[in-house]
Amino acid sequence: MRTMTCIEDLRQAAHRKVPRAFIDYAESGSYAEQTLAANRTDLERIKLRQRILHDVSQRTTQTTILGEPASMPLALAPIGLCGMQHGDGEILACRAAQAAGIPFTLSTMSICSIEDVASAVGKPFWFQLYVMKDRGYIRSLIERAAAAKCSALVLTVDLQVIGQRHRDIKNGMSVPPQIRLANLIDIATKPAWALSVLRGKRKTFGNIAGHYPGMESVTVLSKWIAEQFDATLSWKDVEWIRSIWPGKLILKGILDIEDAGIAAKSGASAIVVSNHGGRQLDGASSSISILPPIAEVVGSQIEVMFDGGIRSGQDIARALALGARSCMSGRAYIYGLGAGGQAGVARAIEIMRNELLTTMALMGVSRVEDIDRRVIASM
Ligand SMILES: Cc1cc2nc3c(=O)[nH]c(=O)nc-3n(C[C@H](O)[C@H](O)[C@H](O)COP(=O)(O)O)c2cc1C
Repeated sequence: MRTMTCIEDLRQAAHRKVPRAFIDYAESGSYAEQTLAANRTDLERIKLRQRILHDVSQRTTQTTILGEPASMPLALAPIGLCGMQHGDGEILACRAAQAAGIPFTLSTMSICSIEDVASAVGKPFWFQLYVMKDRGYIRSLIERAAAAKCSALVLTVDLQVIGQRHRDIKNGMSVPPQIRLANLIDIATKPAWALSVLRGKRKTFGNIAGHYPGMESVTVLSKWIAEQFDATLSWKDVEWIRSIWPGKLILKGILDIEDAGIAAKSGASAIVVSNHGGRQLDGASSSISILPPIAEVVGSQIEVMFDGGIRSGQDIARALALGARSCMSGRAYIYGLGAGGQAGVARAIEIMRNELLTTMALMGVSRVEDIDRRVIASM
């Protein structure tokens, strides 16, 4: 892993190791992928100030996220089908995050179940909730997360319907992969991936399989989501979830100042300014362009987290400078997982942490709390 010096190296390695359908699933955005692209280009446009001759010998990326100590202002975002990038992917990524001292979020649409991960790792993790039509089932998922001692519930509020990702449809995206000649040939060229998935605990959606019989045979994922996910979800449901979840609640997928204002009064502990990594409303603002006004309006009332396009420590510094308290990483750690399992995720985190430390030094800053608008040269 030492020769992997940046997230792009891990991305290229993941492309060599993970079958086409799953790497396409990770890379895709919705429709014309304009918002996906904007997440990156708008981040890159932000120029940082180079400051000199400040004593930066005592730097630390140590901070708190939701009141808990974290080694850096980063959490691993929920990623559906994580365990299809590498066998037992959720367990491996969670272990890497915990060893690095940052939170890991398990997706509702994970391959390993809540219980699989809880029994394989040493510390609490976060659980991300998608709300489906069957509310009895949602209650039971929340109860399972509480029983597993999950330390926060991340309620994703930007996926009541699914944004179309063309490549998933073209690839016939399913879990496990469809037996098509092209898929078989592709998998045959990725033996390490095949072995890791074969040896993995599960080959379907761990949290859901038992509840929805026949789930394994569903061929196109988006069709299943369209049938099961609840398009009636509203702020009333947030209240309901708040009433049955005893712990910290994070609302993920806020991209509007008005919505952020409502969220700040909802009893949630934090929001994640996010457009789902450009996978939902194509044509929506990039996450980074909407972060400053949201942070300005609600930053003193609720903890503001950020995701969308984070690929380096420099990007983390940019988001903190514009008002985020911490960031979430999606694809950056998924590339690490595909490239090298737990060691790859650990490397992704280490790369971004080292970059953040060096960036802080070159900006003349010693603590993450001191990264604010003053470090921005231009936008
Ligand atoms: C392959 C993939 C799967 C995802 N699955 C979920 C999910 O199950 N639940 C969720 O809330 N967000 C999901 N997201 C969104 C991420 O949590 C996060 O918001 C996004 O990846 C951030 O952008 P980035 O990938 O540029 O870091 C997914 C993103 C990707 C790329």
